[in-house]
Amino acid sequence: HGTSKINDLGHLEIGGIDTTKLIAEYGSPLYVYDEALVRQRCREFVEAFQASGLKFQVAYASKAFCVMAMCRIVEEEGMSLDVVSDGELYTALQAGFPADRIHFHGNNKTPEEIAMAIDAKIGCFVVDNFIELHLLNAIAFEKRQKVKILLRITPGVEAHTHEYISTGQIDSKFGFDLGNGSALRAVQEASQLSNLELLGVHSHIGSQIFEVDGFRIAAEKVAGFAVQVRQQDGVTFKVINLGGGFGIRYVEGNTPLPVAVYVKAITDAIKENFGSNDYPLPEIWVEPGRSIVGDAGTTLYSVGTTKDIPGVRKYVAVDGGMTDNPRPALYESEYEAMLANRAKEAPEEVVSIAGKCCESGDMLIWDLKLPKVNVGDVLAVSCTGAYNYAMASNYNRIRRPAVIFVKDGQSDLVVKRESFDNIVGNDVIPARMKQVS
Ligand code: LLP
Repeated sequence: HGTSKINDLGHLEIGGIDTTKLIAEYGSPLYVYDEALVRQRCREFVEAFQASGLKFQVAYASKAFCVMAMCRIVEEEGMSLDVVSDGELYTALQAGFPADRIHFHGNNKTPEEIAMAIDAKIGCFVVDNFIELHLLNAIAFEKRQKVKILLRITPGVEAHTHEYISTGQIDSKFGFDLGNGSALRAVQEASQLSNLELLGVHSHIGSQIFEVDGFRIAAEKVAGFAVQVRQQDGVTFKVINLGGGFGIRYVEGNTPLPVAVYVKAITDAIKENFGSNDYPLPEIWVEPGRSIVGDAGTTLYSVGTTKDIPGVRKYVAVDGGMTDNPRPALYESEYEAMLANRAKEAPEEVVSIAGKCCESGDMLIWDLKLPKVNVGDVLAVSCTGAYNYAMASNYNRIRRPAVIFVKDGQSDLVVKRESFDNIVGNDVIPARMKQVS
């Protein structure tokens, strides 16, 4: 998919470059992003919304992969950007991302984060709870600013892959509940606070969702709430944000729909539920993360050791693992992989891919069919663009790999490989201990 193909040497090529050459140039392991595919995914969202005729914003959920070069792409594609911490906000601002297109999420924004975001003049806060609502108003008051907000509501729809559950009561740390009246109270309080401008509401129903039903039902519930609030309190929402969660294909059996299908389901639901009964059509916002970057990322590893337990299993160990991709260990996520240097060879054995951490749980893939694996082979794990680098750690003091973008035969470093200095750079030996010279 994307620009990936197998070249005449039988090597995996991405963005017009042989991946074995990338490993030789940048070292191993290596995160490789197919920039054309990232941009294609951005455009699929934007074009689908343009086709709907509604006003919209597509805000990339930067938590999926937040580095300065990625912020530049999002900016160039005309999209907005979600951040959930001062670190993500700082990254976006350092990249020159227009502040008025930044939305700030999170269930526990600190006073410092709020002040930083107001000073930067970001476009919108997505307010999660009553404490934040009043804190934000107070800080905005001190700074003599009026800040735009959405209220995050919990609509009682939760979606995972093929299932969604629609219940009145949802046990979630996020948002104002629709079911118990707290969402209504939040709207009433927010519209009384002089330094806040209430634009509308936000809902996010889950991640890696394949079906459109969850989005449609969330849109209907939000619309029902909007109509109620308008009749009761005279507050009209200008913006409805339906969050992210659009699924991608990691392995066979994952069946995401084309982006345009999700977007049409959402925009149709908005058109059906607003625009009549005198309710003006709101602007519609979404926040895709995984579906923008997930399948554009590939991680390249080198095979170091193998362990064959006859009749039981063959382990193939690579030079990374749960430090660069914690998702299999955290969520039992599945991935597909191939030998990038022998991509045309037929599978000959079933192996399990182990990481290099001192922990049995550090396994990347179980029971993968590969040609007979040799030490030094390059393993390419696909669909590692979302929540991999973003959730990477220095467990075992392993240095995080470099990240590169490839496009049209050109490769560019976007995150340097970590150095030993990065590993010990923040360590301090207390003065009362013997110092190293
Ligand atoms: N908006 C909000 C408010 C969110 O909480 C999230 C994800 C998104 C948008 C983006 O969702 P996406 O389109 O990427 O599904 N670490 C997990 C995923 C956690 C998602 C958290 N929220 C994983 O690796 O699967």
